[in-house]
Amino acid sequence: MAQLKPILSHFDPIIPYGPAKFKPDKTTAYRFRFPPRITLWSFLFLFLLLLFFFCSPPSSTSAGKRRSLQNTVFSGRHRLSPNWETKARNSALPRSKSGFSVLVTGAAGFVGTHVAIALKQRGDGVVGFDNFNNYYEIGLKKARKSLLDRHCVFIIEGDINDAALLGRLFDIVHFTHVMHLAAQAGVRYAMHNPSSYIHSNVNGFVTLLEACKNANPQPSIVWASSSSVYGLNSKVPFSEKDRTDQPASLYAATKKAGEEIAHAYNHIHGLSITGLRFFTVYGPWGRPDMAYYFFTKDILRGKEIKIFEGANHATVARDFTYIDDVVKGCLAALDAAKKSTGSGGKKRGDAQFKIYNLGNTSPVPVAKLVSILEKLLKTKAKKKVLPMPTNGDVLFTHANISLAAKELGYKPSTDLVTGLQKFVEWYLGYYGSKKKSAW
Ligand SMILES: NC(=O)c1ccc[n+]([C@@H]2O[C@H](COP(=O)([O-])OP(=O)(O)OC[C@H]3O[C@@H](n4cnc5c(N)ncnc54)[C@H](O)[C@@H]3O)[C@@H](O)[C@H]2O)c1
Repeated sequence: MAQLKPILSHFDPIIPYGPAKFKPDKTTAYRFRFPPRITLWSFLFLFLLLLFFFCSPPSSTSAGKRRSLQNTVFSGRHRLSPNWETKARNSALPRSKSGFSVLVTGAAGFVGTHVAIALKQRGDGVVGFDNFNNYYEIGLKKARKSLLDRHCVFIIEGDINDAALLGRLFDIVHFTHVMHLAAQAGVRYAMHNPSSYIHSNVNGFVTLLEACKNANPQPSIVWASSSSVYGLNSKVPFSEKDRTDQPASLYAATKKAGEEIAHAYNHIHGLSITGLRFFTVYGPWGRPDMAYYFFTKDILRGKEIKIFEGANHATVARDFTYIDDVVKGCLAALDAAKKSTGSGGKKRGDAQFKIYNLGNTSPVPVAKLVSILEKLLKTKAKKKVLPMPTNGDVLFTHANISLAAKELGYKPSTDLVTGLQKFVEWYLGYYGSKKKSAW
């Protein structure tokens, strides 16, 4: 301490060092409230405090991130409109007290757009969520967004892997339900971009489930699995009780993983979760990567279309299901979903866990699909029959829908000719209003 004396005297030349010698009087008391040794420690303490404050890393807690989101218009690579929180709150408001408040992920997608509009039309509050990725034409997703705008459904541009954004959203809106349709869809694309399937269908699903788990109250979740989980199962029609441990594609494997992950969150956190296995959904505003869609495009362009067949000329068939029937199934599943039992991350009892097939239960050979399209488009297709490549597709799908019929009142009513007619009308109207080059 003796060496410190000169330094101290530099700061405090008036008061002699050492408490014993400190005798405040009326003239000096207001200038020097603390003895010099205490002043030294105060400075050191203050210095360390400032050092800690400036050098500590920014908070990585979701609460910290959420706070910072209030003032930002960017989240990840996505731009949020400045008043997105107000818009989300308003869009989530149901028309009546008994209505739902539903978060629809994948709302700029094919099924998501239809489900979001149907919910809004019956009086539920809806907030859409989508990352508008470029797996297929973004223009179509933007056009669906405009359709949602016209139906007063606000859609947030964001990724379901963005935990901070989801956390903030669940803070400002108490969703009663989540209709989770965001996913990397398509079987063949997994050969080119496998990580996109893990990103959206595994990581993204877990991030969303975490947000649901932490929400207070927890929402009930209905989400899209897929008929592809039946994989190489050869027992027909596919029943929910059949084995699903032989996926034929990475897409199928991620959907199967989703079902197992959902079970774990249901079991541990009391989340009410219903999985829907869709069977080849088609219709207006559909998906350009699906056969009925690109066959239409190619037939109109006079381009050759490939029709695959199995070994020994086995027919490839799909249980094509019209979008309106699937939408009814989705709404029925939301209505039948019991409440989650947990809150704020804690389970408070067993919660509902369900899986249903949503198909049409009448598989149609792909060749028949083409002949219907030829009639509707009044154009002969240039067909080339080829052996089916081993890129993830299965030979046929066929749904047993008795469980959904019994528990959800699900009853598909649109045959393929009627459904394709509606699709073709929409297709001609949609692309007809665009430049010829879009065809
Ligand atoms: N259409 C079918 O025949 C069919 C069949 C079986 C299962 N499914 C499932 O149904 C759901 C809806 O399918 P769809 O046909 O509407 O597909 P879609 O590709 O048209 O819609 C999915 C939407 O999710 C969005 N998305 C993808 N990853 C995202 C992410 N990480 N964050 C936010 N948004 C993301 C996409 O931008 C897209 O708009 C998907 O889960 C799909 O796997 C569809």
